[in-house]
Amino acid sequence: MGDQAKLKVGIAGATGAVGLEMLRVLEQRSFPAETIRVLASDRAEERRLRFRQHDLLVEPLTPESLDGLDIVLFATSAEISRVFVPEVARRGGVAVDNSREFRMAPAVPLVVPEINAHALAGHRGIIANPNCSTIQMVQVLRPLAERAGLKRVVAATYQSVSGTGLAAIAELREQSAAVLSDGDAVPDVYPKQIAFNCIPQIDAFDEFGDTREERKMVGETRKILELPDLPVTVTCVRVPVFRSHAIAVNVETERELSPEVARALLAAEAGVRVLDDPAEGDYPTQAETERTDETWVGRIRRDDSVPHGIWLWVVSDNLRKGAALNAVQIAERLVDADAR
Ligand SMILES: NC(=O)c1ccc[n+]([C@@H]2O[C@H](COP(=O)([O-])OP(=O)(O)OC[C@H]3O[C@@H](n4cnc5c(N)ncnc54)[C@H](OP(=O)(O)O)[C@@H]3O)[C@@H](O)[C@H]2O)c1
Repeated sequence: MGDQAKLKVGIAGATGAVGLEMLRVLEQRSFPAETIRVLASDRAEERRLRFRQHDLLVEPLTPESLDGLDIVLFATSAEISRVFVPEVARRGGVAVDNSREFRMAPAVPLVVPEINAHALAGHRGIIANPNCSTIQMVQVLRPLAERAGLKRVVAATYQSVSGTGLAAIAELREQSAAVLSDGDAVPDVYPKQIAFNCIPQIDAFDEFGDTREERKMVGETRKILELPDLPVTVTCVRVPVFRSHAIAVNVETERELSPEVARALLAAEAGVRVLDDPAEGDYPTQAETERTDETWVGRIRRDDSVPHGIWLWVVSDNLRKGAALNAVQIAERLVDADAR
């Protein structure tokens, strides 16, 4: 990587939901970049994005636009990442990709820095950022796995529309307004109405009736935790919430794990905040925790239907830790490793 004081950073897909958040996170965390190049599709109109009191001109993403960049954060679709991510590596830079495209490739590290930063060693210029729901789930599973061993994980997600990008945010707004004025909610981004409704389908179905999102969570959880045979099963649901995903996670452990010990382990975990006082009505919700950097956990309680069972309610902002923040934290680790 280049001289740390003169890092050249790119954001591909800078005008989307994740890309805009990446720009915000880079600024908020004073990322040591000398220049930032913001890249998106080729549009006729001139577009500019604000960064550190300057306007950055949005440039078309082309192979040449990646020349000279040390780190490029990708917030593009799998189809676009497939073409352009390898171009970064070929030019001697490092790409941190948010799409699903490279996550399960054996040679590509799939990283949540608090959990498996060691996987970054020996990367070949491509690092994958995990799926948003996977990130928040593995953050709580890891400390429990270390203490008590995981026997089985069963989860159901409640995922916000910003997880699908800017077009889906607009769809929830428009449909909500239409329904409230007795009009018709016309689905476009989603297969069914999302306003005042929940859709138990995220991404395409496979031949077994699982969705790709559910398969992603299973495969990525096993890869990040380095537990290739862990029994994990998930139902992913889209809910009419703008930001932040919630997950009800049921964990069966190998050994005894009391809710008190689980609470203490999670409270000590970097990036995790416990908010769990039912007597006071304290537990995290999406609206109350959006735009925060932590993954919040509450409703930590025993499941006595199995010998060692525990329930958790896990909430995190999908655009922050679920995407942009995690990608920038990966970039920070790369810079730190380079400086040493
Ligand atoms: N949203 C989340 O919470 C989340 C979490 C984890 C991972 N991800 C992944 O991150 C990626 C981006 O998601 P998003 O939610 O930010 O989507 P989005 O809001 O739809 O943004 C898509 C971005 O891709 C750009 N783009 C589209 N076509 C392009 C082209 N031909 N060449 C260059 N850029 C192009 C768009 O630029 P224009 O403005 O020019 O169209 C825009 O900047 C996806 O792979 C998604 O699965 C999202």
